[in-house]
Amino acid sequence: MKNKILLIAVILCAVTLITGCGKKEDTMKDGINYLQLVNKQNKLPDDWEDKVELVDVTNGLGETYKVEKKAAEAYAKLKEDLEKDGVIIELDSTYRSVASQQELWDTWTIEYGEDYVKKYVAVPGYSEHHTGLAIDIKLVVGDKVIYDNDEMIAQREIFSKIHAKLAKYGFILRYLEGKDDITGYSYEPWHLRYIDNPEIAKKITDEGLTLEEYLQKYKR
Ligand code: DAL
Ligand code: ZN
Repeated sequence: MKNKILLIAVILCAVTLITGCGKKEDTMKDGINYLQLVNKQNKLPDDWEDKVELVDVTNGLGETYKVEKKAAEAYAKLKEDLEKDGVIIELDSTYRSVASQQELWDTWTIEYGEDYVKKYVAVPGYSEHHTGLAIDIKLVVGDKVIYDNDEMIAQREIFSKIHAKLAKYGFILRYLEGKDDITGYSYEPWHLRYIDNPEIAKKITDEGLTLEEYLQKYKR
């Protein structure tokens, strides 16, 4: 009897090893963890840039950006869906290298001062934009392109339409209103984060969670 159980266990292990079943979670596809937490306390993992596949995406204004491959495909579907409702979004900032984050930090510090910058810009090495999974959008309203932070925040009706469709395509809103103490950043209605799993995205959205809260509640 003991030998029989042992034999079954060995066969199950072999099947698991051959098929790869159970080796990865559903959020660990293509070598990257789509639920990777990058925030003020958690730096981009050192091997991330070797694993992530970035593709070039040209927006409707002729500007080209790098985005993680699956995030780019999902974003195209989200954009198309929103256009049916008359909402036009365009890429504004996506993948950023540590060097380009430094440039952004320096430029914004000169323009707005360090206190403001700390609320909206991550220290180089600690930005979710390094993952390729973060997408900042801008809005096209009539013949106007809206990208200024304060003007964007004022577009509540448009953003509520956008936010309502995010989960369906595997995106969450990363920096929620009133959760600055958890995320470390002010409300950013434009900063979308791809997590590659519409079910989890819906759960996060429906429960009004930040990624930090979701990971603490369900994953650790
Ligand atoms: N705007 C976000 C916080 C960043 O700079 O990564
Ligand atoms: Zn952003």
